Amino acid sequence: MAVSPVPETLRIQSHTGPYEAVFDEEALERLDAGPLDGLHLIVDDRVAELHKARMPRLLGHSSVLRLEAIEPAKSLERMPDYVAHLLAQGVRRDHTLVAIGGGIVQDITCFLAANLLRGLAWRFLPTTLLAQADSCIGSKSSINCGAAKNILGTFTPPRSVHISSRFLDTLDERDRRSGLGEMLKVHAIAGPEAFDRIAADYPRLLADRALLNHYIRESLAIKKPYIEEDEFDRGPRNIFNLGHSFGHAIEAATDFAIPHGIAVTIGIGMALHVGQGMGLVGVDHLVRMRPVLAANARGFETVPVPFEAFLVALAKDKKNVGQGSVTLILPDAACRMTKKVVAVDDRFRQLCREFFVEAWRA
Ligand SMILES: NC(=O)c1ccc[n+]([C@@H]2O[C@H](COP(=O)([O-])OP(=O)(O)OC[C@H]3O[C@@H](n4cnc5c(N)ncnc54)[C@H](O)[C@@H]3O)[C@@H](O)[C@H]2O)c1
Ligand SMILES: [Zn+2]
Repeated sequence: MAVSPVPETLRIQSHTGPYEAVFDEEALERLDAGPLDGLHLIVDDRVAELHKARMPRLLGHSSVLRLEAIEPAKSLERMPDYVAHLLAQGVRRDHTLVAIGGGIVQDITCFLAANLLRGLAWRFLPTTLLAQADSCIGSKSSINCGAAKNILGTFTPPRSVHISSRFLDTLDERDRRSGLGEMLKVHAIAGPEAFDRIAADYPRLLADRALLNHYIRESLAIKKPYIEEDEFDRGPRNIFNLGHSFGHAIEAATDFAIPHGIAVTIGIGMALHVGQGMGLVGVDHLVRMRPVLAANARGFETVPVPFEAFLVALAKDKKNVGQGSVTLILPDAACRMTKKVVAVDDRFRQLCREFFVEAWRA
C-alpha cells in the first residue's frame, strides 16, 4: 500500500544516544509495508483486533506476541512465557522488539529489551493517549512483582517512537480521559499559562483531532528538556510525579477501580488542596484549576476511597525518604511545582480527609 511522506519529528537525547519521536498518522501502515526481518512484534490484542485491517502483514509475521493489556501481564511472573516465545522465534542480539500498544505493552517490551540477551533495540508505536502524550518518551520500564506494582524497572530508551493519532479513534472514553489527566499534569508543570490554555480548550479536545494532536506534541515538548537533563529521575524530572504519590495511593486503596491518569487528575486536585491548606499556594489557583480537574475525573468522584488504606499506600510510596514523612510535589505561591518532604501529622491527615469528604465531592 502507498503511504505518504513522513512528517515532523521530536529528537530526544538519551544516555544511549538520540532517538526520534515521529508524528506520523500512517505509522502503522508504514511499518506494515516495510521489511520485517529481525523484528519481533509485541502487540496489544485489542489493538490487533480493532486495527487488523491496517496491519495484515504484521499480524501474519512469524514473530508476533499478542497480549491482553491487563496489569498481571506486566509482571515478573509472566516474563518466562515471553522469553520462551522470543527464544522459540530465534531472537538474536541484532534483532529489534516492536511494541504496539499502550503503557502495559510498552513496559513489557522495554523491560524485555533491557534484559534479554543483555540488551536489544526496541521501537514503539503507542496506541493510547497516555502513552502518546507522556510515557512514550522518558526511557522508563516498570513491571510488577507479586503484589508490588511497578517495583522492577530500567531506564531503556527506544530507538524510535512513531505516533499516529488514528489509534485513538477506538479508545474508550475512560482511557482517553486517563491520557488527558497526564496532559493536564504536564501543563500544570509548565506553569499557570500553559495550564489555563489546555483548560480552556479541554471541552473541544476529544472532538477536535488537530487540537488534540497539537496538545500531544506540546506535552512531549514540555517533557523533553526534563528527561534530557535528568533521564534517571534523580532531580528536576521528579516534578513529573505531580499528582502521582496521591494518585498511586488512590489506585491502590480502590483496588485499581480508577484508571491511572484519572487517579493522577484527582491527585493534582489533592496536591492543590493540601498545598493551600499548608499555606503554600493561594486559593485563587485552586479555584482556577479545579473545574477542569473535576471535569476530567467526572464519574469517578463517587468511587469510595478507604481512607486508612489510602494513608498506608501513601506511606509506602517509592519516592519517600524517611519514616513518618512523605515526598510530594506541591505548588508554591506562584503555582510552580516543587518537591517537598511533608510530615504525616494530624494536620496533614486532616487536609487529606477533608479533600475526600468535602473539597472533591463539592
Ligand atoms: N513506563 C512508563 O513510563 C509508564 C508511564 C505511565 C504509565 N505506565 C504504565 O502504563 C500502564 C497504563 O497504560 P495506558 O493507560 O497507556 O494503557 P494500557 O496499556 O493499560 O491499556 C488500557 C486499555 O486500552 C486498550 N487499548 C490500547 N490501545 C487502544 C486503542 N488504540 N483502541 C482501543 N483500545 C486500546 C488496552 O487493550 C487496555 O484495555 C500502567 O501499567 C502504568 O503503570 C508506564
Ligand atoms: Zn502517570
